[in-house]
Amino acid sequence: MLRIVFLLVAVLDLTLASRKLMRVPLYSRPKPNKSELFLARNVTNGNERLRVALKTRQNVEFYGYISMGTPEQHFSVIFDTGSSNTWLPSTNCPKSNAVCQRHRQYNSSSSSSHVPDGRNFTLLYGSGSVIGYLSKDTLHLAGVDIPGMVFGEAVFQHQMAFDAVSFDGLVGLSLGILAWKNSTPFLERLCAQRLVEECIFSVYLRRIPGETPSGEIIIGGFDKSLFEGQLHYVPIIMPNSWKLQINQAFVGTKEIGGKVDAILDTGTSLMLMPQKTYFNFLKNLPAKLEDGNYVLSCEQESLPEINLHIGGKVFPLTSDDYLVELVKGEEKICVLAVAPVNMDFWVLGNVFLWRYYTVYDATGKRIGLAKAVQSDG
Ligand SMILES: *[C@@H]1O[C@H](CO)[C@@H](O)[C@H](O)[C@H]1NC(C)=O
Ligand SMILES: *[C@@H]1O[C@H](CO)[C@@H](O)[C@H](O)[C@H]1NC(C)=O
Ligand SMILES: *[C@@H]1O[C@H](CO)[C@@H](O)[C@H](O)[C@H]1NC(C)=O
Ligand SMILES: *[C@@H]1O[C@H](CO)[C@@H](O)[C@H](O)[C@H]1NC(C)=O
Repeated sequence: MLRIVFLLVAVLDLTLASRKLMRVPLYSRPKPNKSELFLARNVTNGNERLRVALKTRQNVEFYGYISMGTPEQHFSVIFDTGSSNTWLPSTNCPKSNAVCQRHRQYNSSSSSSHVPDGRNFTLLYGSGSVIGYLSKDTLHLAGVDIPGMVFGEAVFQHQMAFDAVSFDGLVGLSLGILAWKNSTPFLERLCAQRLVEECIFSVYLRRIPGETPSGEIIIGGFDKSLFEGQLHYVPIIMPNSWKLQINQAFVGTKEIGGKVDAILDTGTSLMLMPQKTYFNFLKNLPAKLEDGNYVLSCEQESLPEINLHIGGKVFPLTSDDYLVELVKGEEKICVLAVAPVNMDFWVLGNVFLWRYYTVYDATGKRIGLAKAVQSDG
């Protein structure tokens, strides 16, 4: 009996030792003024345009590093839970394309592992489009090689949307629904090739911008030291996207919205609500309209929490989460990090994700949520 136990322990040890966790540090930088929001799209077809103009909000973008090809060419990318495809700027973009010239470009001629695909693509994000053609090459991330990755070589990127951003390209972490035909999205490819033990990843964001890691994506698992208590799992409501259901939303004790879908989206800075919910929210705040922004005093203690009821549990966001402080002359003002969308779903962007650690389980078709540790900065 004891022997069997020992054997079992040895086997367990082996599986633990071979279990691969890919830890990807994330960095963050404030986005420039007047940038347009890099926004979630209509997840059913991936090409609905949503536009939210950001006026004074100093929002932050999170990015990490990957490399592509042989020898490796390095890029900074957004790891986007709201989309499925991967693209990088191409050396074949025209010289006249200032956005492309300002970012690192993938050169297929100097990669021995490059395989042409022959198809063109157009991707429409909330903030603008990306156009180019598809290629196949080996993607390298956190010490792991992922051969045969289909990705887009962008020859055109919408000027307004991508000019000022600090990342070069994008890696889509969503599931298959929006993926190009005959291409397996990043996560499914990793899992299919058994490069990770478990087909899950987790996202941790901190608010401190800078070149020191301000977040982490762990592919293949999660880190218990980054959240408090237990993960609360809720099912995803579509088989192929990171979308869950909010049962009810409150401001303090006042209901502002009922049952509605919500996308978890690392590619969006703000929290977006259906218009009607947003106006209910405003009604319960001492906000004034100034230059197109709803402005509040920064006396945050007196402001109510947003309480999201998800899967039988309440997820509060304090005014510290949903307000952004700005300096206007001598004066400090606060604006909302919440914006309305003309659609019937929420987008839980960084405003939500730096308060809550999230685990994306592709096998269990569920999302785990827990309060992130030390997410204030
Ligand atoms: C944003 O605007 C403020 C005030 O107009 C200005 O001081 C600041 O330099 C701007 N930041 C960027 C990144 O352009
Ligand atoms: C997404 O787009 C499709 C097709 O245009 C439309 O039928 C659907 O209602 C849209 N979904 C949402 C949530 O707006
Ligand atoms: C791409 O790589 C090829 C082969 O190494 C090289 O001749 C060419 O100059 C490179 N193109 C650019 C734009 O760097
Ligand atoms: C891809 O786009 C290029 C440039 O617009 C065009 O010349 C080419 O015919 C297109 N290829 C396909 C397969 O559509």
